[in-house]
Amino acid sequence: MMPIFTARLLLAAAALIGLLLLAPMLSEAQETPPLPHQQWSFDGVFGTYDKAAMQRGFQVYKQICSACHPVKHLYFRDLQALGYTPDQVEAIAASDQCTDGPNDQGQMYQRPCRPSDPIPGPFPNDQAARAANGGALPPDLSMIVKAREGGPDYVYGILNGFKPAPAGFQVAPGKYYNEYFPGHQIAMPPPLSQGAVTFADGTQATVPQMAHDVATFLAWASEPMLDVRHRIGVRVFLFLIVGVGIFYAAKRKIWAPVH
Ligand code: HEC
Repeated sequence: MMPIFTARLLLAAAALIGLLLLAPMLSEAQETPPLPHQQWSFDGVFGTYDKAAMQRGFQVYKQICSACHPVKHLYFRDLQALGYTPDQVEAIAASDQCTDGPNDQGQMYQRPCRPSDPIPGPFPNDQAARAANGGALPPDLSMIVKAREGGPDYVYGILNGFKPAPAGFQVAPGKYYNEYFPGHQIAMPPPLSQGAVTFADGTQATVPQMAHDVATFLAWASEPMLDVRHRIGVRVFLFLIVGVGIFYAAKRKIWAPVH
């Protein structure tokens, strides 16, 4: 009698513990669906950034996101990594205005940007950024891919995650329902719409396409050296393979008289 009772008790306890552990996961799963996983050119050990996608992504950032979000860690000269020539970078820089100074009168002044300038953000400070966005701060995007779980999938998810709120969900004024934003209420109006930009290379500017391209650009901004790391990694690996081969051949030769 006793062993069966103990076994049942153990089973019941195990079931209870299992339920307790699983319950929060289940409710969470209902709240935020898993991020849609995208194929990224820079995934994996041999991954590299797709330059055409980065250029399109920079265009999306420049024409749309830069109205609210800065990319604080980027300089114009960094854009050469996207495949632009030095002349193109100079032209891109010159199309923006940078603050310089003070001049002889002690005044700061505006002048066309140069490749050596940091890419200027839309607001002079965080307070101004908040004031223009109903109290919410549009975060710096140059580190966002590293700073958020899911990385490029998160950025892609947010940009594609605007949906009508489900019945019974109260969206606060000035907020928008977004499937992938924690809490589902985001202070960013849906920034992308079909055809919002015209890509020079003829790529169709659908929302998923623009989201994918801008996420590629932002992934590069967060980790510009990934390409170099991967290239060095592959070379080191080849070097080690060749090295092992040489050492093995040498070992056989040296020990041959002994065998
Ligand atoms: C009209 C201003 C505006 C534009 C344009 C805009 N954003 Fe935002 N964005 C915001 C604000 C404000 C927030 C903060 C939302 C919050 O905290 O609720 C935000 C938040 C985000 C977040 C989530 C950040 C986090 O903390 O997890 C991402 C990602 C993002 N924006 C990317 C973009 C991208 C990419 C573009 C261009 C395609 C863009 N945004 C265009 C205002 C804007």
